[in-house]
Amino acid sequence: RLRQEEKAWKINSLASEFFQNVLLRNPGAEAARGYLISRGVTIDTIKDFNLGYALPEWDALIRFMRDKGIGIRSLIDVGLAVSNNNNKTYDRFRARLMFPINDSRGRVTGFGGRVLDKSNPKYLNTPETEYFNKSKILYGLDKARQHIREAGYVIITEGYMDAITAHQYGIKNAVASLGTSLTRDHGKLLASQTREVIIAYDADAAGIAAAVRGLDILQEAGCRVRVLHLSEGKDPDEFLRARGYEEWQRQVERAVPLVEFKLQMALEKYKNVSSSKDAILEEVLPSIAAISAELEKTEAIQMVASRLYTSFHAVAEELHRFYKNNP
Ligand code: GTP
Ligand code: MN
Ligand code: MN
Ligand code: MN
Ligand code: MN
Repeated sequence: RLRQEEKAWKINSLASEFFQNVLLRNPGAEAARGYLISRGVTIDTIKDFNLGYALPEWDALIRFMRDKGIGIRSLIDVGLAVSNNNNKTYDRFRARLMFPINDSRGRVTGFGGRVLDKSNPKYLNTPETEYFNKSKILYGLDKARQHIREAGYVIITEGYMDAITAHQYGIKNAVASLGTSLTRDHGKLLASQTREVIIAYDADAAGIAAAVRGLDILQEAGCRVRVLHLSEGKDPDEFLRARGYEEWQRQVERAVPLVEFKLQMALEKYKNVSSSKDAILEEVLPSIAAISAELEKTEAIQMVASRLYTSFHAVAEELHRFYKNNP
């Protein structure tokens, strides 16, 4: 199996070089270059992240690989080619901007490919296999690792472009979860680097729902999770380009602990605090319960109690009941 995995790294890495050469030199990539320029992506960033372009042709990659002695079977195995019902084979990625996805040690394990227009799907990914598993990968972690240690925290975004733009703005401790919800494996991957996590998801309904839903798992892994608020509708890429680095740092300083973020959401939802205390408490209890550090948990209970005009004891009692019902 290791042989298989090594073969996949080798082929993906060759493909990544090919896509980048096309992006930088091929006349057919004019639109892709224009697209990146229009989004403010610099040449340094293109090289840093090994961005590339897959031509609109059906077999540009297949032909390139054939010349290197790599056959169609191997390409299908790593997800770079597909064969249809009539046994016709063609490149999986066509007319897409290519984002190589590295593992935390910098080996190319897969790709994301973005269309240049509004067609669907916006992003196409390498199909999941035993060794390409998005729930175990954080995009950009290979480049961010050292910077996460230095900064003492990691920033988790949703998308490729968010992590890339963050790095371009010098925020090199940023990674992306690629639109999937965070898993225990992500938690493990991070907890070995830092315990401080700042979530910078899109400020749309989906991003907020993901923040409310999926983050307890990071606290269970022993991380302290704070949520960064971006202005209405924006994602980190858009925010940085519109507001710049200074404004970003201000939002980082204002990031609120996960429990507080959930409390704010619940308070907005229920409006009348006094008649909805139980319901509001229900929404924040799982996140309090997921906190592993005792002192931090005590602080969270204190904070929730005061915001709900109730006693520490009352919240602590509810927490005990929660633990009993969710062993
Ligand atoms: P841009 O529009 O290029 O700025 O991308 P974005 O990252 O802002 O996209 P969005 O907020 O819509 O989605 C966040 C992340 O979810 C993306 O970066 C992808 O990793 C993933 N994603 C989005 N759309 C799709 C899709 O159609 N298919 C798949 N497989 N993943 C997607
Ligand atoms: Mn670096
Ligand atoms: Mn979004
Ligand atoms: Mn975006
Ligand atoms: Mn987005």
